[in-house]
Amino acid sequence: MSETAGKPERRPRVFSGIQPSGTMHLGNYLGAIRNWVAMQETHDCVYCAVDLHAITVRQKRAELRRGTIDLVNLMLASGVDPDRSIVIVQSHVPQHSELAWILNTITYMGELRRMTQFKDKTAGAEGESIGVGLFDYPVLMAADILLYRADAVPVGEDQKQHVELTRDLAERFNNAFGKTFVVPEPIIRGKGARVMSLDDPTKKMSKSGGSEAGYIAIMDTPDVIRRKVKRAVTDSGTEVRPGPDKPALSNLLDIYSSLSGDTVDHLVERYSGKGYAQFKADLGEVIVAALEPIQERIRELEADKDATLKVLARGAEMATSVAERTMTRVRERVGLVPRPE
Ligand code: AMP
Ligand code: TRP
Repeated sequence: MSETAGKPERRPRVFSGIQPSGTMHLGNYLGAIRNWVAMQETHDCVYCAVDLHAITVRQKRAELRRGTIDLVNLMLASGVDPDRSIVIVQSHVPQHSELAWILNTITYMGELRRMTQFKDKTAGAEGESIGVGLFDYPVLMAADILLYRADAVPVGEDQKQHVELTRDLAERFNNAFGKTFVVPEPIIRGKGARVMSLDDPTKKMSKSGGSEAGYIAIMDTPDVIRRKVKRAVTDSGTEVRPGPDKPALSNLLDIYSSLSGDTVDHLVERYSGKGYAQFKADLGEVIVAALEPIQERIRELEADKDATLKVLARGAEMATSVAERTMTRVRERVGLVPRPE
């Protein structure tokens, strides 16, 4: 890591994770992964495919395996650099589960019951048939973060409450057992980083909610991308501009701007008097051009499966050494007898 005048500089640490469930799309890239790549410049980062979180809802075995490797490949293809950051699959480092268990013992039913995501995911379901894993999901997330003594946790707005719970658990543990954990700060992305669905700009782009027309999958072919953009819903009128009365155009302009680097104002000027069709045709090309090098790199990684596995092996090894250091302290603080050598 970086050094100044021979003195190792302690950079702030970042931990973040994404569930390897389903097709990765442009929202995941713009909203999360691209930001992860940028944070490598200023932070020591651990990036994780959280497969144990994914299984809190039933997964198909082959799809979970495939999705996990696909997610790691997307991270690598997007510029997450395994020489600078630690890249892991959550289940490869069993300390995550171990710490989650210990944190369970200081977590209250009441605080988990209040989690909005839990309420959303179980809305309408009977308590009798709600999985305990779904309820406990935020505790495992807290374990992910606290194991690596992360200072900062980049997440979307919807995960802020979980990071706040993590802070509470860190403080509660520190007060009860002595200072052990770093209390992490959430880094919430700005509104601009919320990519909305192409067929309904009031909903976020998502692989689960709605039709395939609503999202651009990372591996969509150029023709599919062009077609989806062309068919994206627009607002009434013909002007290319953002605004509260123009949710669809606001979204398309945001996507264009985040991928091309042009400001929205600049785009509005460029497309003044040109109408939606020209704008959408150009946006299609901008997305195609942005995804092309990532797709290319993913194809290379897919052709050389060992490369990804090597990254994961090294990541697991480095992560385990950090995680085990934390766990040794945790076990000692709690009063668990160390395993004899
Ligand atoms: P999910 O696909 O919902 O598991 O989310 C994985 C990551 O991508 C999280 O950090 C999300 O906040 C982010 N993400 C998912 N969908 C979007 C979206 N439409 N816009 C921005 N970020 C998103
Ligand atoms: N719960 C997060 C999500 O659904 C994923 C996640 C798991 C995570 N562990 C984490 C995010 C730790 C940040 C830090 O998006």
